[in-house]
Amino acid sequence: MQILHVVGARPNFMKVAPVMRALRAHSGVQQLVMHTGQHYDANMSEVFFDQLGLPRPDINLNVGSGSHAYQTATVMLRSEEVIAENRPDWVLVYGDVNSTVAVALVCAKLGIRVAHVEAGLRSFDRTMPEEINRLLTDQLADLLFTPSADGDENLLREGIAADKIHLVGNVMIDTLVRLLPHAEARWPELRQSLPVDREVLDQGTFALVTLHRPSNVDDPVTLRNIVAVLQEIAQDIPIIFPVHPRTRQRLHNLGFNSHRSRLYFVDPLAYLEFLGLQQRAALVITDSGGIQEETTFLRVPCLTVRENTERPITITQGTNRLVGLNMDCLRDNVEQILSRGAVGGSVPPFWDGRAGERIADVLLAR
Ligand code: UD1
Repeated sequence: MQILHVVGARPNFMKVAPVMRALRAHSGVQQLVMHTGQHYDANMSEVFFDQLGLPRPDINLNVGSGSHAYQTATVMLRSEEVIAENRPDWVLVYGDVNSTVAVALVCAKLGIRVAHVEAGLRSFDRTMPEEINRLLTDQLADLLFTPSADGDENLLREGIAADKIHLVGNVMIDTLVRLLPHAEARWPELRQSLPVDREVLDQGTFALVTLHRPSNVDDPVTLRNIVAVLQEIAQDIPIIFPVHPRTRQRLHNLGFNSHRSRLYFVDPLAYLEFLGLQQRAALVITDSGGIQEETTFLRVPCLTVRENTERPITITQGTNRLVGLNMDCLRDNVEQILSRGAVGGSVPPFWDGRAGERIADVLLAR
């Protein structure tokens, strides 16, 4: 059986790793990795291959950045040649980035079976490019692997046949479980390299921030408001903010080039380094999807700067809270977390480090 895995952007790499590992345990499976090149900077791509123990991509489409149409269409054109030539038994696509939907569409037209890992998530907000990618990918996929039961419900409601849907759990958590000890081993080096008090780092008396959604960073007024509140929050607790390239450009345009008092802008971090910080942080402020899940697993309070989430289980069961773009709400919630201390929450079913194995079992049974 030949399986082609498709990855393109940073959050895909943590998802493909456990599936490849699980499939490697079975003889008779040949695996190829195709990197679309949607993300290409070393600290957005290569470092993840190294830390996650992924093999170098067999194929790199070198698509790079561009408008949605450009990126999606270029992935389609370049991947079509590779897929038509190799005709794998299964193509696996991950998450909700432009590369995911582009390749799913190519496979559907070529009559190649495609499986979607992390299927069924819905924010019900079609202004998010990822929501369009999720809806279309799930309509096209022959097999849909969901991380939580809400995913199954969404898919059934959209008319997807029940026998295509498999609740396997969260592959991102597989990677987290496997690499937590490695993140610990990295900690001594990381604490030396960050421009933050060692005591603050060791005691976890800091907030960790990531922001990259177009809805938060592309509009200068919105971004300026968010940064203004972060500066206020930094008076109460130092903030470490690894800055995504999209956000870096926007901050640069607003004249934020260096640290403001106790608000530390740093370059994007590699997986183990970010995990080490996440695990220790007093709280996380983010607009990322994956980080909402990771903080739920780690039981770290998470405030999500979005109006909605495609991962509602992180709210109903986990440590996540939506604050939208209401900056008073963000500030109040930070105060509450700092005064209240530990949060509850529980780890959702099947977020147990074995989702990759379940996916491999289903694929082999087919
Ligand atoms: C993409 C995904 C988003 C995901 C995010 C994770 C889509 C629609 N969006 O958003 O779902 O949460 O990745 O990071 O697929 N850039 C670099 N170096 C890189 C990559 C990008 O400098 O290696 C810059 C480019 O200027 C580019 C911008 O970042 O224009 C945005 O990159 P892009 O891939 O278009 O979208 P992301 O915001 O990264």
